[in-house]
Amino acid sequence: MRWRVRLLDCESNGKETEMKILVVGASGVIGSAVVAELGKRHDIVAAGRSASVRLDISDGASIKAAYEKIGRLDAVVVAAGSVKFAPLAQMHAADYEVGLMNKLMGQVNLVLIGRDYVREGGSFTLTSGILDSEFIRGGTSASMVNGGLNTFVMAAAIEMPRGQRINIVSPGVVAESQDDYESDFRGFETVPAARVARAFAKSVEGAQTGQVYRVV
Ligand SMILES: NC(=O)c1ccc[n+]([C@@H]2O[C@H](COP(=O)([O-])OP(=O)(O)OC[C@H]3O[C@@H](n4cnc5c(N)ncnc54)[C@H](OP(=O)(O)O)[C@@H]3O)[C@@H](O)[C@H]2O)c1
Repeated sequence: MRWRVRLLDCESNGKETEMKILVVGASGVIGSAVVAELGKRHDIVAAGRSASVRLDISDGASIKAAYEKIGRLDAVVVAAGSVKFAPLAQMHAADYEVGLMNKLMGQVNLVLIGRDYVREGGSFTLTSGILDSEFIRGGTSASMVNGGLNTFVMAAAIEMPRGQRINIVSPGVVAESQDDYESDFRGFETVPAARVARAFAKSVEGAQTGQVYRVV
């Protein structure tokens, strides 16, 4: 153990190095908890459609423009993404496109475009959700998108460039969102946003890659 402490002292005087972290969806229920957690130790760049760094995850050009504006990053966190909820009987192809082009490809595009802006050994952390493994009425699109995101992350991890890591957080129903979701999620336990945020910290500040962090 002593050699490890000495190594840390030599490299960084024993202090954690501050990172520059892009948080997409920073004003949201989960995003604001992530900003509160990671903002204690790191420099946060807040992004969203109405944030100081404006980007729409469904618009690749706006993602590219935001990365160009920000410059080099240590980590990217995404806590944004919409899907359509409706009974299967009312769902048509165009209804699935909402989730595919927004929550799924929006997050994937933040990785594809962002790999050139994130430093060697930096990280990406995406968001899926409990409907990846538990199912509710009206949730087919959310389940499809969340499952797709989880498997994208596990597959991408083995070929990310320049030692970059990628993980995903799959939260249960967040306590602060319960009023919005309760009727669709009867009987589901809730999880405080602060606990979800710690999974993002584990991803950004840890060393693992290809992980699905379930917080339920
Ligand atoms: N809350 C839950 O219980 C829960 C549970 C499991 C999974 N999730 C997932 O976690 C993610 C975040 O959920 P949340 O409840 O924190 O959402 P939220 O409170 O509605 O916040 C969404 C955030 O994303 C930004 N945003 C929305 N659309 C965007 C777009 N097209 N491009 C860029 N930014 C966009 C919003 O800011 P602007 O309006 O300024 O763009 C806001 O900051 C979602 O994918 C959701 O499915 C949530």
